[in-house]
Amino acid sequence: MPIHADIVVLPGDGIGTEIVAATLPVLEAIAHRHGHRFGFHEHDIGGIAIDRHGVPLPAATLEAAQKADAVLLGAVGGPKWSDPNAKVRPEQGLLAIRKGLGLFANVRPVRPHRAALGASPIKSELLEGVDIVVVRELTGGIYFGDKTRSDSDASDLCRYTVVEIERVVRSAAALARTRRGHLTSVDKANVLETSRLWRDVTNRVMREEFPDVTLEHQLVDSMAMHLLSKPRAYDVIVTENMFGDILTDEASMLAGSLGLLASASLGDGKVGIYEPIHGSAPDIAGKGIANPYATILSAAMLLRHSLGLEAEAASIEAAVSDALDAKVFTADLAAPGQAVSTTQAAQAVIERLA
Ligand code: IPM
Ligand code: MN
Repeated sequence: MPIHADIVVLPGDGIGTEIVAATLPVLEAIAHRHGHRFGFHEHDIGGIAIDRHGVPLPAATLEAAQKADAVLLGAVGGPKWSDPNAKVRPEQGLLAIRKGLGLFANVRPVRPHRAALGASPIKSELLEGVDIVVVRELTGGIYFGDKTRSDSDASDLCRYTVVEIERVVRSAAALARTRRGHLTSVDKANVLETSRLWRDVTNRVMREEFPDVTLEHQLVDSMAMHLLSKPRAYDVIVTENMFGDILTDEASMLAGSLGLLASASLGDGKVGIYEPIHGSAPDIAGKGIANPYATILSAAMLLRHSLGLEAEAASIEAAVSDALDAKVFTADLAAPGQAVSTTQAAQAVIERLA
């Protein structure tokens, strides 16, 4: 059944504008093939919003996102707004929209593609069959605790409530149930009180509601090691905000490039934010060489999770996979002299849509 959907588009800063501009034609192509109509509504967030409106998340952007069916986001931040003493920062806009939409679960799949195995610094034999989803808690913890700063000290408070832990663990466990039925919860319970609460709540939720899903606890430091030494051992990983941020940049090296990792930020409702896990990459911004696949794959997650268009999502994922098989690589993956541009990579995906 053809649908009409309103998608708020937030290109943001740096390569954000380029990768989002390359992704919209992919969404248009899939809409055209299936008779859907997507309205794209572009708004400012991050550094560009600071420049134009004085704030990283203008009220109009948040309101539009609240009314939309889904949000596609590029990246925020850059050297122009990175003065450590600045009162407003682009990243605050991203945190505020995640919080404002109640998107507490950030889903980050890590599935190395056969054609990109050589791009990973990890031995290929360790990577075959790796299929992990990290569910990162997104609206709590040290990111959102009170901050203080004086001439002689500074502090960031890390706080978690039982409800915040329960809901993200439920999302992760429900996902594990649809996969291989294994959940790894990552914390630092040997040191942090928030982690001890995390572990207690996780044990209870899993015992009471998910007896069919196996549960394993890992300390974050040893998890960082196991992720590289035996990545096949993991199915779904659930962890707090900061640990999830760090572990997923690490996990991206299993896939060969940060430019391949997509994400979906989900809450209780249908609206979600879909964005690559990478940042605004100011060093390569404006050159047209950024890898658009992570954003295109995020758009596929948008179709699946917010619009219920599973076949369309799968068709984009298959097209990206085919483009990778054909070695249509941007500079992050290509051999010297073999790289295609951002738009060429996106075009290769469009040509391969079933
Ligand atoms: C991410 C990013 C953000 C985060 C930054 C830009 C605030 O690193 O989405 O992983 O830390 O959440
Ligand atoms: Mn990050």
